[in-house]
Amino acid sequence: MNSTMEKDIKRVLLSQEEIREKVAEVGAKISADYAGKNLLLVGILKGSVVFMSDLMRAITLPASIDFMSVSSYGSGVKSSGVVRIVKDLEQALEGYDLLLVEDILDSGLTLSYLRGLLQNRHPNSIRIVTLLNKSARRTADIQPDYCCFEVPDEFVVGYGLDYAEKYRNLPYVGILKEEVYQG
Ligand code: IMP
Ligand code: MG
Repeated sequence: MNSTMEKDIKRVLLSQEEIREKVAEVGAKISADYAGKNLLLVGILKGSVVFMSDLMRAITLPASIDFMSVSSYGSGVKSSGVVRIVKDLEQALEGYDLLLVEDILDSGLTLSYLRGLLQNRHPNSIRIVTLLNKSARRTADIQPDYCCFEVPDEFVVGYGLDYAEKYRNLPYVGILKEEVYQG
């Protein structure tokens, strides 16, 4: 299956089954923590789409969803820290408890910028849920409130995460072979 993509994967880091179990667990935790609140899940496009679609179905509260798209310029491996809003949210944030849904927290620059920007719109609260946390590379002062997996400092793809817009549709998270992005 997927042989043309799988030849570029060094090894599977997180299997579909591992991800499924952990997302269910985090969804249950969020459901308990947000009881009685006005939860708005904000998916950061495009990397969060697969995680978002699984996570929202693991949440048993009546949540709203919205999406935002930001670009840190370029399709490379490293975040530049310069963030541009490509697509903004569709609604005002007053009265909502925001949960930002991210694929991976790396340097943290993207989410740190975004959180500051959304705080200025005066929601009730803002928290962060990330599928992956690459804390070894954190430079910004930001930590996830909910995290599914800690990952090593290697470039990973799949389950929404891309390299140059490819591999998002791999159903698991894998480590990309260095030769793919160094070649
Ligand atoms: P940060 O601003 O450095 O935290 O970068 C966050 C964004 O960089 C993520 O939303 C991803 O789009 C991208 N990113 C960082 N590390 C990886 C990785 O290992 N694989 C794929 N994308 C990554
Ligand atoms: Mg990306």
